[in-house]
Amino acid sequence: MAKRRSGQMIRRSAAALVVFLSSHGSGRAQDPPAPSVPEAASVCLSCHGPFGRPDNLDYPIIGGQNAAYLASALRAYRGGQRTGEAAEMMASVARPLDDRTIDELAVFFASLRSLR
Ligand code: HEC
Repeated sequence: MAKRRSGQMIRRSAAALVVFLSSHGSGRAQDPPAPSVPEAASVCLSCHGPFGRPDNLDYPIIGGQNAAYLASALRAYRGGQRTGEAAEMMASVARPLDDRTIDELAVFFASLRSLR
């Protein structure tokens, strides 16, 4: 397994992302609305990186990916249709998620497109 970032770094990046997103777009009227950050997203950042773009490319880039694709991938992990060692990692993350949370996560990570 390639080098992983320390837990502390990850928590700091996650906090920075949340601060960035909640301060972003709150000002001028012509700004697009800031995407709301689903609570469940913080765990994702530990592997998929802040903005869904991991430094460690053992983990796929999900920031800016199509929302419908992300939601269907998450449902496939949850339902056990995606298999394999790496998929098992995702299955344990996806199993507790309900449909609404999956859709929120998909829209949130898709909304990071402009940050790529
Ligand atoms: C423990 C590390 C880890 C965590 C935490 C994690 N993921 Fe993943 N994720 C992975 C790995 C590894 C893969 C690739 C699995 C495979 O090969 O199918 C993956 C794949 C995915 C994919 C499929 C990407 C594609 O292009 O098909 C999506 C979507 C995804 N993760 C979303 C999430 C979301 C949303 C969360 C938080 C709820 C999350 N992940 C949390 C490790 C993680």
